[in-house]
Amino acid sequence: MTRFVVAPAPGIAGSVTVPGDKSISHRALMFGAIASGTTRVTGFLEGEDCLATLAAVSSLGVRVSRPGPGEVMVEGVGLDGFAAPQGPLDMGNAGTAMRLFMGLLSSQPFDSVLVGDESLMRRPMERVARPLREMGAQVETTEGRPPVRIAGGAKLHGIHYAMPVASAQVKSAILLAGLRAAGDTTVVEPDVTRDHTERMLQAFGCEVNARGGTVTLRPPSRLVAADVEVPGDFSSAAFFIVAACIGAREPFTIRGVGVNPTRTGLLEMLALMGADLRLVNHRTCGAEPVADVEVRPAPLKGITVPERLVALAIDEFPAFFVAAACAEGETLVSGAAELRVKESDRIAVMADGLTALGVANEVRPDGLRILGGPVSGGTIDSRGDHRVAMAFAVASLRARGPIEILDTANVATSFPGFAGLARSAGLAIDERA
Ligand code: S3P
Repeated sequence: MTRFVVAPAPGIAGSVTVPGDKSISHRALMFGAIASGTTRVTGFLEGEDCLATLAAVSSLGVRVSRPGPGEVMVEGVGLDGFAAPQGPLDMGNAGTAMRLFMGLLSSQPFDSVLVGDESLMRRPMERVARPLREMGAQVETTEGRPPVRIAGGAKLHGIHYAMPVASAQVKSAILLAGLRAAGDTTVVEPDVTRDHTERMLQAFGCEVNARGGTVTLRPPSRLVAADVEVPGDFSSAAFFIVAACIGAREPFTIRGVGVNPTRTGLLEMLALMGADLRLVNHRTCGAEPVADVEVRPAPLKGITVPERLVALAIDEFPAFFVAAACAEGETLVSGAAELRVKESDRIAVMADGLTALGVANEVRPDGLRILGGPVSGGTIDSRGDHRVAMAFAVASLRARGPIEILDTANVATSFPGFAGLARSAGLAIDERA
């Protein structure tokens, strides 16, 4: 089992460029696979999650090649072109892959079975299966979890679906099923969630209308292949944004970060705490806005997080909780029960880790109350959750002793090379077998 040992460090300095966006990389492969023509993806995240999607797409008969680092060519087979896979499709640790493939596969003429690693096999899948059944799909979960079995040959029809949870994965799965359904498909979101699916489908020539939390898709006759330039992953940048907030000695820059407003709730939360953050060098990467994030040293104060920001920062709470631990006063997060069904129960696992470092906190059913204060050294069990592991590595910038973080292999699912990049910025991080 791999682990990190992170000694206290005097601070970070300079700039970093983080790997490509995970959500966009998954979608580029899937949409490229069902498009007509060849899709060239650059800046692709070569992390284990997206490689699981790449393997699954290949198992469905799509030719995929990797001519160079971060570059993938996908020879689309069209909306009706998948071939039956030889066996179960293994999604590894990737919830996004499993849920989006449920949508894609529910209208195919062949049966499919979706499985994953120990963490993914515990995660809820009925949230996707239920609306897909409403569309006419034959989908079975195993007491709500994977393995997911999809029977081939179902004829789907569009639905109007009000999502009970704010989830971009559920929304995307329904829209992908809608591509081969009869009639329009409409999804209504309770809160705004990431809109990469809508943007990329439009770039591939599909008619998708999104307004005021309602997204409607008209089934296209085909998707047209389009090149996808993947921006840096905001969720990976988040660890360096928080690191710079609590440990920069001078202005620190994270370059080429995707700043789609459905992803950047963390910036608003940190600004409310008093952080000095600037977005500079704005540009676009295909359908997505990109900028450099500049962080200047500034003291942080505890806040009550506005609930409207929760879905816009859903993957950033492990990093944010570390910022709260280093802030003066109390921080309260509520309305965030979804954190309990991520790669781990991120409320419980982060609370245990904070307690191990001497940071006072109170667990709530839908959030966490944290009292900022001194951070000690200690041992953290990340429970195999990549973002928990990286968040506690960042905490070392304020810790009074070394932090040992257990079970870190899954950092490679979203952020291959994290330890090396963090070391180059100034963290005293060692990766050990
Ligand atoms: C994702 C959506 C979010 C997020 C996940 C990636 C996506 O999940 O946590 O890491 O790519 O659509 P939910 O839709 O379950 O909130």
